[in-house]
Amino acid sequence: MSSYSTVPRALFIRWSWYLFAAVSACTVIWTFYALSEYRSLKAITRPLASSSSPSKAAGNATLGFQAILALSPSPSWRTAGLQAAAKFTGLQIQIPPQPPLHSEIVDAFAGLGSEDVRHPNHGSSLAWLAHLDLIKYVVASDMESALIIEDDVDWDLSIREQTVGIADAVRKLTNTSASDAAPYGQSWDVLWVGLCAETWDQNFETVFVDDPTACPADLYRGLAKGPVDRLPPSQRAVFHSGAPICTFAYGLSRDGARMVLQDVGAGKDEAFDIALMNGCRERNLTCISVLPEIFRHYVPPPSFGGSSLVNSKDEDNNTVRIETEMGSTENILRSARCHALWGKDCLPR
Ligand SMILES: *[C@@H]1O[C@H](CO)[C@@H](O)[C@H](O)[C@H]1NC(C)=O
Ligand SMILES: *[C@@H]1O[C@H](CO)[C@@H](O)[C@H](O)[C@H]1NC(C)=O
Ligand SMILES: *[C@@H]1O[C@H](CO)[C@@H](O)[C@H](O)[C@H]1NC(C)=O
Ligand SMILES: *[C@@H]1O[C@H](CO)[C@@H](O)[C@H](O)[C@H]1NC(C)=O
Repeated sequence: MSSYSTVPRALFIRWSWYLFAAVSACTVIWTFYALSEYRSLKAITRPLASSSSPSKAAGNATLGFQAILALSPSPSWRTAGLQAAAKFTGLQIQIPPQPPLHSEIVDAFAGLGSEDVRHPNHGSSLAWLAHLDLIKYVVASDMESALIIEDDVDWDLSIREQTVGIADAVRKLTNTSASDAAPYGQSWDVLWVGLCAETWDQNFETVFVDDPTACPADLYRGLAKGPVDRLPPSQRAVFHSGAPICTFAYGLSRDGARMVLQDVGAGKDEAFDIALMNGCRERNLTCISVLPEIFRHYVPPPSFGGSSLVNSKDEDNNTVRIETEMGSTENILRSARCHALWGKDCLPR
């Protein structure tokens, strides 16, 4: 079906956009931050108390969310690796069927708003609508919370310990009372656990998590390298979001899911993650970021096309192609996918 083949192409278009636009966009944003008084909070760092608290539940099979939902158009090497990694690390991941999107709807969504607002291209519009569909599913199912992941993401073998520390930190950052049983508390809309760019410096009110599995700055790659270089070693920072980009994985609270639909449900920006970032920056959404990120996209080896953007389905005979050689995942020390499928780490060095 054409809807299957357009999605990888859409992702390719979207990622090309990142390559050309993200760096310059980030520079502009970071300059804006550097010049503004936007972030003049004092650094308040608190040690992590032992977790007897509800944050322990953040180490369960759905990482303390009511469900983990993967955004996926169809079975592929992405979902095969995803399920293998989930099994290997004891996670339960659901892949709800994606409703078909007619290309006229995709174009209509792209065209929403007047001439002077920003518009997504066709590929970005398609990806954006797919995220909205999944968030509508969260709202319609009245979930207390959900973790939404893209189907090529990867994570560390110790994910279920990482999230307990992060939940503890989120509770501290938001002054959540011990009587609130929600693992991450409820004083947030979006939890950016799989971002690829962010702002951070010592002036941000931050709760640090002692985490030897945090990717060290000298091995860290990507647009968030600047902030990661400034972090204390072996620590993960949890703070109210500055300017996060990329939605490899993000948590939504019950209210957060509704707020996101309200805030970014009408298009009028370049892409879903950019719109979400703007909602966070303008404080229409309460967002919390985790740096270094704990989810990152896995990239298949060059022999398989060398990127996560290759067509995953053989058009003629409907077979799913699976990579036969190991790829790599940046910023994740002990990749769940690579350990599940090849029994070793695959951090590019
Ligand atoms: C994990 O904890 C959350 C929050 O308490 C809960 O909603 C979810 O059902 C739990 N997951 C599993 C698999 O028990
Ligand atoms: C949490 O409490 C601290 C100290 O009392 C305060 O500075 C901070 O603004 C509070 N944060 C939130 C999100 O309420
Ligand atoms: C964000 O909040 C501001 C002020 O409350 C409001 O004017 C604006 O329309 C909101 N933006 C969106 C996209 O809801
Ligand atoms: C069917 O798919 C396999 C695996 O991708 C491929 O090697 C083969 O050439 C395909 N057959 C046809 C008839 O397209």
